[in-house]
Amino acid sequence: MAISREENDLLTRVESGAPMGEMIRQHYWLPAIPSDKLEADGAPVRVRLLGNNYAAFRTTDGTAGIIDERCPHRRASMLLARNEDNGLRCIYHGWKLDVHGSVTEAPNQVGNQRKFCENVRVNRYRVEERGGIVWVWLGQGERAPLFPDLPFTRVPADQVIVGCQEVATNWLQGVEASVDTSHVGVLHSTNVALGAKSSGRVHMTKVQAPVLEFEDRPYGYRYAALRDLGNGKTYVRLNNFVMPWFGVICAPEEGANANVFFSTPVDDTTHRAWIVQWNPSRPLGVSALMRGSDSWNWPPLPPGEPENNWGQDRKLMKMGHFTGFPQSFATEDFAMFLGQGPIHDRTDEQLSSADGAVVRLRRQLLKSVREFMDGQAPELADNPELDYATAVSVGGVIEEGGDWRGLAAD
Ligand code: FES
Ligand SMILES: [Fe+2]
Repeated sequence: MAISREENDLLTRVESGAPMGEMIRQHYWLPAIPSDKLEADGAPVRVRLLGNNYAAFRTTDGTAGIIDERCPHRRASMLLARNEDNGLRCIYHGWKLDVHGSVTEAPNQVGNQRKFCENVRVNRYRVEERGGIVWVWLGQGERAPLFPDLPFTRVPADQVIVGCQEVATNWLQGVEASVDTSHVGVLHSTNVALGAKSSGRVHMTKVQAPVLEFEDRPYGYRYAALRDLGNGKTYVRLNNFVMPWFGVICAPEEGANANVFFSTPVDDTTHRAWIVQWNPSRPLGVSALMRGSDSWNWPPLPPGEPENNWGQDRKLMKMGHFTGFPQSFATEDFAMFLGQGPIHDRTDEQLSSADGAVVRLRRQLLKSVREFMDGQAPELADNPELDYATAVSVGGVIEEGGDWRGLAAD
């Protein structure tokens, strides 16, 4: 599927009223900030989404809130506000905003304070806190979209860990990588080999050209990457793409930890790459993945600039490291996104048989944004059959020619 310039813009642009940004704002919940970054009565944190700035904070009683960064009075930054007594008090003239963004006090107004406060125009956003993440719905109207209660949002807190990092490229580059199964055994081959005890990881490096099969689902699609093991068996990785940005990735084998990747648009040329590690049945324990890390700033970005090839370590490559980015497997991904440029030009690609998942996700995003532009709710966001909990991804070995759909049914 060749992408035109117009389609590339439609897919990638999210700022200043761009249709994709508006579609996402109205029809999807956005992951905003890891829960552990907000402390009760602590400093508000700036969250930038779809080209706008917000202040995220946690009130005295522990409730998380997200409001516009600018004070409704004379637009001072609420990041500088005092966080006290269940609300943010702007330090300029003392207006107080509650967790919903409503003004509760306006001390520099004479007369009926309550009436005055009620009449101040503010944006109120719905906030949910699940799976170690504070989520926000930035749309308008009473009817919020269905919350994406993916399996990782439904497990106890000790079974899920979240990290995210701001990357200086358009969001779609990140999303595409999360469904791009054929890069795993190449770009991440050193990392995969380091975890060599896992049979699934071994299969992934051995067969680098999996056969892909797809099935549309009410939330997006699922796809099976089939690797012929040459012994009458097939290694299957059954993964899900959940609109508009979730790559729900199976564990390499049963009982192991699984990942969910998503890349949310900060603005046209910046995204936040989220990595969730979780286990459906047991606590993660001391997770090597996230040890000692800052959930707002992890995994690490490549250590250099374009001028020095983003800090790639050629010496390490001579010694056997495949990419020269030993910081984290995600650092390897970030280096790829940065190398593609601020907004990847999809008009000039030459795709292979392994790119079916990428093509399909573009098609679903384009379909949704076009429905939105026609004044309809996108089918993939507003389907009565929509049930995010069914986006279950599994890996396993089946008999050659067997049906991979049976894997998810177990
Ligand atoms: S600008 Fe915030 S109270 Fe005046
Ligand atoms: Fe990757």
